[in-house]
Amino acid sequence: MKEILSKLPKQTWFEVCELYQWQGSWYFAPHLEAMFTAQLLFEARDDDIIIATLPKTGTTWLKSLIPYIVEGSKYEDDDDDPFLKDSPQFVVKTLEINVFRGNQNPDLSMQDCLLSLARNPKDVFVSSWHFMNKVMRPMESPYPIEKAFESFCNGVQIFGPYFDHVLKYWNESLKVREKILFLKYEEMKRNPKGEVEKLASFIGRPFANNVEIENVLQKSSFERLKNLDVNKTGFVRHGGPPNSSFFRLGTIGDWKNYFTPDMQERLDHIATLKLEGSGLDL
Ligand code: A3P
Repeated sequence: MKEILSKLPKQTWFEVCELYQWQGSWYFAPHLEAMFTAQLLFEARDDDIIIATLPKTGTTWLKSLIPYIVEGSKYEDDDDDPFLKDSPQFVVKTLEINVFRGNQNPDLSMQDCLLSLARNPKDVFVSSWHFMNKVMRPMESPYPIEKAFESFCNGVQIFGPYFDHVLKYWNESLKVREKILFLKYEEMKRNPKGEVEKLASFIGRPFANNVEIENVLQKSSFERLKNLDVNKTGFVRHGGPPNSSFFRLGTIGDWKNYFTPDMQERLDHIATLKLEGSGLDL
């Protein structure tokens, strides 16, 4: 692994971490190693549901929604509800982060369709800046937002570049509509009932009635999850970040509190160039 890493393009990110570029995307070294293992050993089953999202687009929300849709009736009793004991990051683990990391033979029992989620890139950037400051520099002053923004605009971001990632899934979702569902965070916030019904039908678990929909929405709601003891005080198991770091505001448009007009113009320009002709609007 050391030899492979020594040959890859490398960038320092948020002053404290190194990212390595592999086939156009940026990774932490342990995630890259786990990704190689996953590519070699992971075999999808017909009933797998794979969440393919970039950090800060709302992954935690999908990681909560899907188990409540699929297993909801089993979690009625608090003693059986895994979200009362663990962060959504651990209830639904990430292949490159905590399934195949240092483990060639993981238990995949919790895990032939794919879900992708996009979010306004300005909110993704602001969410990511807060997360990285909290997790990687908890004792230091925040990393200058201008520097973080420069990296984001250059596509340097864990598992990024953002636009390349969402565009790939967007294009594929248009080709294989029955296999890939492309969701948007903003649409889920604006019309949670409609989007969650769409999600449930897509994964083959349509709701029987309104009560079921309301129940899933309430259980996986930002307000409930953020205020669970486990998410206020715990840490993602095996040395992960604080569970609270995955629940910040859960809103649309917080970028307006941080972006200067120049930043807005620059990112809008990049978005226009990247997404032109794709039909994708973010
Ligand atoms: P903010 O930092 O803007 O609040 P990810 O899970 O992909 O890392 O994304 C984290 C973002 O999703 C954070 O955004 C977080 O607050 C928000 N989030 C987490 N759980 C959510 C939920 N149940 N509903 C809506 N947003 C949620």
